[in-house]
Amino acid sequence: MIGGVLPRGFKEVLALVEERAGLAAPSCLAAAMEGIQRAMARANQEDVDAYLRELSYDNALFDDLLTELTIGETYFFRTHEHFDHLRRVVLPELRERRGQEHLLRAWSAACSSGEEPYSIAALLMAEGWEERMSVRATDVSRTALQRAQQARYTDWSLRGPSADRMRPHLKQEGRFYWLSPDVKRHVQLGYLNLALETWPSAESGVWQLDVIFCRNVLIYFNRATIEGVARRLHASLEDGGYLFTGPSDPPLADYAPLEPVLTEWGVLYRKPPAGSGAGHFVPLQPLQPLPPLPATVPAPPLPGFRPPPPVASTPAPVRGTPAGGPPAARPGESSTSGTRTRFTLSVEALEAVRAALARGDWREAARRAGAQSADPEGALAAVRALANLDPRAALYACEEASVRHPLVAGLRYLEALLLLGRARLPEAERSARQALYLEPGLAVGHLLLGHVLRRQDQAAAAARAYREAEGLCRKLPPEALVPLAEGERAGALADVARDEARRLERMEG
Ligand SMILES: C[S@@+](CC[C@H](N)C(=O)[O-])C[C@H]1O[C@@H](n2cnc3c(N)ncnc32)[C@H](O)[C@@H]1O
Repeated sequence: MIGGVLPRGFKEVLALVEERAGLAAPSCLAAAMEGIQRAMARANQEDVDAYLRELSYDNALFDDLLTELTIGETYFFRTHEHFDHLRRVVLPELRERRGQEHLLRAWSAACSSGEEPYSIAALLMAEGWEERMSVRATDVSRTALQRAQQARYTDWSLRGPSADRMRPHLKQEGRFYWLSPDVKRHVQLGYLNLALETWPSAESGVWQLDVIFCRNVLIYFNRATIEGVARRLHASLEDGGYLFTGPSDPPLADYAPLEPVLTEWGVLYRKPPAGSGAGHFVPLQPLQPLPPLPATVPAPPLPGFRPPPPVASTPAPVRGTPAGGPPAARPGESSTSGTRTRFTLSVEALEAVRAALARGDWREAARRAGAQSADPEGALAAVRALANLDPRAALYACEEASVRHPLVAGLRYLEALLLLGRARLPEAERSARQALYLEPGLAVGHLLLGHVLRRQDQAAAAARAYREAEGLCRKLPPEALVPLAEGERAGALADVARDEARRLERMEG
């Protein structure tokens, strides 16, 4: 490869992959070329033009190449927060909404070697759905599907912090673990290329779903494919159904009327229940009560505050101070409490917030929600609550709150999170850096910066940010709660950061 240009033939191979599987041009061409060369060697083919011709009709060859260009990495109960949220919030809500007799339909889109759908099935069984559940699992790689069908694993698939939950369903033989048929029988495996318009449909088995896991695959797609996949994911969900995407996957709410639900660990999506009026693309009428706040929008404890930086270096306020609000808190005043405020809105306040949102009056919505509170914890919690209703209004409120509390790292962090959700990457980076300037030891800030840099194809810098997050988490006892990542334990978060860093370091060669 000369000067970052692929030799003739290799470019055409990547173009074919983009056309057929929706994969974006790889950020590291050298690694992609090496991958193609390995796949060619396995196919006993030295001539790239002949290989290209074979690729166009030989599905097995194409699948084999895909395994070089995407990472099939997965493990049992990966990103355990998703499974915890499914258990704590989503399943009880579905039971309540759909009734005891409902057959729960879940889908693991891009299931790789099966650890994800089998984890979902094990969880559903543990939660009492065994008689009324169906888990569909699909992937574009037939090699991966064969592994899933075989359901024979090694310790590598049990490396996650919550993988022990799978052990009761595994029978060890030497260094292998065989999945119990009790779990396996609930999962229907099949080939499906997410980039094609073949779904949702009864034939694909992908339709009327209650829960979708589409994780760690959208990162590979180009924009047009992401848009199409987002629309089809939305169409595949039943009203009130939920979609989980991976922590580094691109945001989807701009492409389909999916309602982003901001939680303490990140964002998931919900297809608004019919008539709820929630979501971006539909009017906000009629007014509905918020979902129970503690489950989805807990107010985080503020981290211990550091002395304010020198005045000259203080990050500039985002906007002018809003008129008419209560006086600003003195710097550092609120941050030493370490107490937790549960944020609740009265029904009247909630209705007023929703009415203001319906009019597009974000300032009023922010004021009514309490985002201009003199107490930084209250402001932070209000922004989080608003994020569940309308992320754009939440962003506005966050910027207003940052003016009032310019030294609160948590607000900058949340601002970065919301900007990332809007794919406003340079601004998200700026806010994340401001949060870290105020609070250099903020592990979640480094993690978020890693996500933002990664999305901007700055792999080396992103890897450094992830390593920083990992280092900070490792300094804490593994079971300690990480500041501003309510519920997240230091050990698990360190592993997440390490995995992200490793992936990028591998890509960088
Ligand atoms: C990193 S794995 C994700 C596994 C699992 N979802 C998880 O998060 O642990 C990515 C998977 O996406 C699959 N994939 C890539 N392109 C795809 C496409 N166009 N349609 C369906 N699956 C695809 C790959 O074959 C691979 O198994």
